[in-house]
Amino acid sequence: MRPHHLVPLAFLPLTLSTPHTPVPIEIHIMSQCPDALSCWHTLISPALSRLPPTHYTFRLSFIGRSLPDGSLLCPHGATECLGDMLHLCAVELSSPPSPPPVVEYSTFTGCLLENYRSVGERQVVEGCVDENNKTRRGNATWGFEELNECVSDYAGDEGGPKLLRRSFDRSREAGVNRSCTVRIGGEVWCVRDGGEWVECPSEGSVQALVGEVERLWHGEPGVGEL
Ligand SMILES: *[C@@H]1O[C@H](CO)[C@@H](O)[C@H](O)[C@H]1NC(C)=O
Ligand SMILES: *[C@@H]1O[C@H](CO)[C@@H](O)[C@H](O)[C@H]1NC(C)=O
Ligand SMILES: *[C@@H]1O[C@H](CO)[C@@H](O)[C@H](O)[C@H]1NC(C)=O
Repeated sequence: MRPHHLVPLAFLPLTLSTPHTPVPIEIHIMSQCPDALSCWHTLISPALSRLPPTHYTFRLSFIGRSLPDGSLLCPHGATECLGDMLHLCAVELSSPPSPPPVVEYSTFTGCLLENYRSVGERQVVEGCVDENNKTRRGNATWGFEELNECVSDYAGDEGGPKLLRRSFDRSREAGVNRSCTVRIGGEVWCVRDGGEWVECPSEGSVQALVGEVERLWHGEPGVGEL
C-alpha cells in the first residue's frame, strides 16, 4: 500500500471532545428520596441497558452534609445515610475494574431504591443482594456479610463512612443539591425534583439521554456549539 499524503493540520475537522472515549454519566441522589427511584427506573436503568457498555462510565453520587467533626448528615435522617453507604459499598465491592461495570451492582441499586422506605432492614438488604447475585456476571462475589462489614468500617479508606464523605464532597464541589440530578460529561443534563422533570431537554426521555451519550461518544458537536 502506498503511504497516504500527509494532511495539513489545518484541514483536520475540529472536534469538541475526543471521540470514542467513554462518556461519564452520573446521578446525584439521596437514597430515601422518591425522585431517586423514578429517576432510576424511568430514565437511567432503561438508558444504560440500551447503551453499549464501552460508550459510558457510570457513577452513583450522594447528596448530604459532612461536618468538620466527622459527622455525616443526610436530609432524610440517619437511615438514609445507611442506605447511601449500602449503595456505595455495593459499587466498591464490585471493583476492580474501577469503575465497575454497572451490571455487577445495578440490580441491587434498583432493588434498594424500590425499598427506599425500609433501607435499614436486614431482610430487605439481603433480598436485594440475592436478586443481584442472580444478575451479576463477573468477579464480584460479595454478599450481605461483605456489605455489612463495609458500612461498619469507620477506619478504612474504602469503608462506607469515608466513601459517603467523599461522595458528599463530590456533589458539593459540582454545585449539586437536588435529588435526582443527572450529569453527562460533567454537565447537568436533567433534574428530577418534586415528582417532576425540571431543566430537562425532553422531559427525561430515555431516547434523548441515549442520543446525547452517543453524540458525545462520537465526538459530534451539539446544536449551538459551533
Ligand atoms: C475481573 O477482574 C480483572 C482483574 O482486575 C479485570 O481485568 C476484569 O475486567 C474483571 N472481569 C469482569 C468481567 O469484570
Ligand atoms: C450472594 O453471593 C455471595 C457470593 O457468592 C454469597 O456469599 C452470598 O451468601 C449470596 N447471598 C447473600 C444474600 O448474601
Ligand atoms: C442548592 O444549589 C443552588 C445552586 O448551586 C443554590 O443556589 C442553593 O442555595 C442551594 N440550596 C441549598 C438548600 O443548599
